[in-house]
Amino acid sequence: MKKICVVGSINMDLVVSADTYPRPGETILGHSFITNPGGKGANQAVAAARLGAETVMLGCVGDDIYGAKLVENLDAEGVDTRHIRRVEGPSGIANILIADHDNSIVVVPGANYTVDRTYLDSMLDVIKESDMVLTQLEIPLDTVVYLSHICKREGIPLLLNPAPAMPLPGELIDNAVYITPNESEVEIIFGEKVDIKQLIRQYPQKLIVTLGKEGAIYFDGAEIVHIPSISVDVVDTTGAGDTFNGAFAVGMMAARDMAYAIALANTAAGLSVTKMGAQRGMPAWREVMDQL
Ligand code: RIB
Repeated sequence: MKKICVVGSINMDLVVSADTYPRPGETILGHSFITNPGGKGANQAVAAARLGAETVMLGCVGDDIYGAKLVENLDAEGVDTRHIRRVEGPSGIANILIADHDNSIVVVPGANYTVDRTYLDSMLDVIKESDMVLTQLEIPLDTVVYLSHICKREGIPLLLNPAPAMPLPGELIDNAVYITPNESEVEIIFGEKVDIKQLIRQYPQKLIVTLGKEGAIYFDGAEIVHIPSISVDVVDTTGAGDTFNGAFAVGMMAARDMAYAIALANTAAGLSVTKMGAQRGMPAWREVMDQL
């Protein structure tokens, strides 16, 4: 069976829902508070594992109560957690406010920022055993760039989900085999004025721009391909992008066909937003197949 390796963040999500976003300096009353496992890395690992992929998670959690719970959750999802390191200090957390059918998130990286070159060096054998590596930008950028060189050297395809977005060094863009920003991330990475259709033409079979409920587009080398999503009742969009990435990796492993992998990813991401919490709505393989 093909193996997916996720190198990334593991957070506890502290989720508040309210009618509106408070203005700076304002206090408002909310409706609910829940604590959910999250983190873009862990979410992508869970999305892939739910779809049946053999998935290993590389990252760090703190020695606080969240650290133990986060690893326990990944274990329960069937993700290989043997190489997750527990470090001194707090685990990563995400403060999430859900209002107006959208969310805003503040991430405090904590232990995620101890994922460094030395840790990656010690995980080289695990990385080398994998058929695809997924990463995001909630661990230090230097580590992500270093990982991209390892993947390139070892001939392992790297899927970079550039979130949260920041300007990227050219070598990282070159080394990644797939890059999956959404529209607002495109603006931060490639500039506000960029024309998305022209941009994706520069990166055939590589740059996939996700468009929320509209699906995703990419350039197949001959034409721009738009793969639509499914229509659902949205409860919580947190983790939809992560579900897309985990499912895309599984689709590429299964079929090596981008159009198929994106359709699968769109469907999985669509299903994921029908439940509250980043990971709760992530579908199993059968649920996705029933919709495809
Ligand atoms: O992509 C959603 C994730 O972003 C949340 O689970 C939160 O932890 C933040 O990292």
